[in-house]
Amino acid sequence: MQKLKIRGGVPLHGEVRISGAKNAALPILAAALLTRDTLALTNMPVLNDIGTMVRLLEQMGVSSARSGHSLSLTAADVGHPVAPYEMVKTMRASILVLGPLLARFGEAKVSLPGGCAIGARPVDLHIKGLEAMGARITIEGGYILARSARLKGARIFMDTVTVTGTENLMIAACLAEGTSVLENAAREPEVVDLAECLIRMGARIRGHGTDVITVEGVDALHGAEHAVMPDRIETGTYLTAVAAAGGEVTLTHARADTLDAVLDKLAEAGAAITRGERHIGIAMHARPKAVNLKTAPYPAFPTDMQAQFVALNAIARGTGIVTETIFENRFMHVQEMLRLGAKIDVEGNTAIVHGVERLTGATVMATDLRASACLVIAGLVAEGETVVDRIYHLDRGYEKIEQKLTGLGARIERSA
Ligand code: EPZ
Repeated sequence: MQKLKIRGGVPLHGEVRISGAKNAALPILAAALLTRDTLALTNMPVLNDIGTMVRLLEQMGVSSARSGHSLSLTAADVGHPVAPYEMVKTMRASILVLGPLLARFGEAKVSLPGGCAIGARPVDLHIKGLEAMGARITIEGGYILARSARLKGARIFMDTVTVTGTENLMIAACLAEGTSVLENAAREPEVVDLAECLIRMGARIRGHGTDVITVEGVDALHGAEHAVMPDRIETGTYLTAVAAAGGEVTLTHARADTLDAVLDKLAEAGAAITRGERHIGIAMHARPKAVNLKTAPYPAFPTDMQAQFVALNAIARGTGIVTETIFENRFMHVQEMLRLGAKIDVEGNTAIVHGVERLTGATVMATDLRASACLVIAGLVAEGETVVDRIYHLDRGYEKIEQKLTGLGARIERSA
């Protein structure tokens, strides 16, 4: 398995270009199933998860053409509305094909995603919402078997704020007969980006970005062009790396308006943040101050930035209390941080991070995408060499991470 070797202690300087958002691109790729026309996408990140979703669509009969960060999909002849276990088990976001397959073809066979390292992550709200729209759904042999005549608009209240649940139901509602109202909907910017793409395809959506999304179903959607929004979690990850390692960096092709909660916490930790139309600047010339945070649905502090802030708090002045309210097992990075000399106590869904003056390099193991980011940040500040193993987790969500960090002066290399 590939590893990243990092020799820490070097402040970061220069410019880094932010890639398109993985968590906006994935539902947008699934939405290509809604029309027989071509959906032409730009600012598409080059990531393993994107490749997995494209292969999943291609084995259904979707044709694709890719060059660099542009990708077009045409779902003219989808003769195989199936998402097989072998593919779904590698990427649970595959569940996002369920809504569009049902809406366009009236049938779908999608493997249940199964468990995940960070939590149970059921898909009961996806299923409940589609049933409310008239789908007949059974679970057989580990698969979701779904059938429906034309879906019917419905008022759906989601008990828990679910990002892909909101996305699945919003996509399905676009072709339903009548109007759907999604209540307690997710407000994440990725949901908004998906809605804007769907509207370009002819969908009638309003309220996206609020907790009540209204969709008036139409008979058919058409092709469109769409540029995927910048990745706000990649943005937050690089900003946190600078806050931890020190230095001055400008992030280009970034959107400051999608991560206020993170920018506020970085300022509280002592970073100087400058916001531009399409860039964010950060300067940090002192040891960070520990910050307390609690993850919650957007616009609150994102769970996908929790691990990175554990790394920041690990070397901060003072003690930072980090509370995770979204997933039940999202502190797996803590055990690995202890190997680097961090002082962290986990009590239930709270990590009490006692900042230390320095971390010392060691070999650590990535366990999930954002835990990997935490370990890379820790390696950037630790004395000596840190080896992060199993970095296939990282490659799912961070495009060219070692190239981008090397460009900022980090001493980092990939090895087999
Ligand atoms: C999305 O996952 C993101 N993935 C995750 O990012 C992110 O951590 C998460 O939202 C929360 O922001 C994509 O967008 C592809 P949820 P999702 O449904 O949609 C419970 C990353 O690092 N729930 O919002 O799967 C669930 O168990 C990934 O890029 C139900 O109970 O998350 C969780 O506790 C990791 N029933 C809570 O809701 C359901 O039917 C929020 O999950 C659905 C969810």
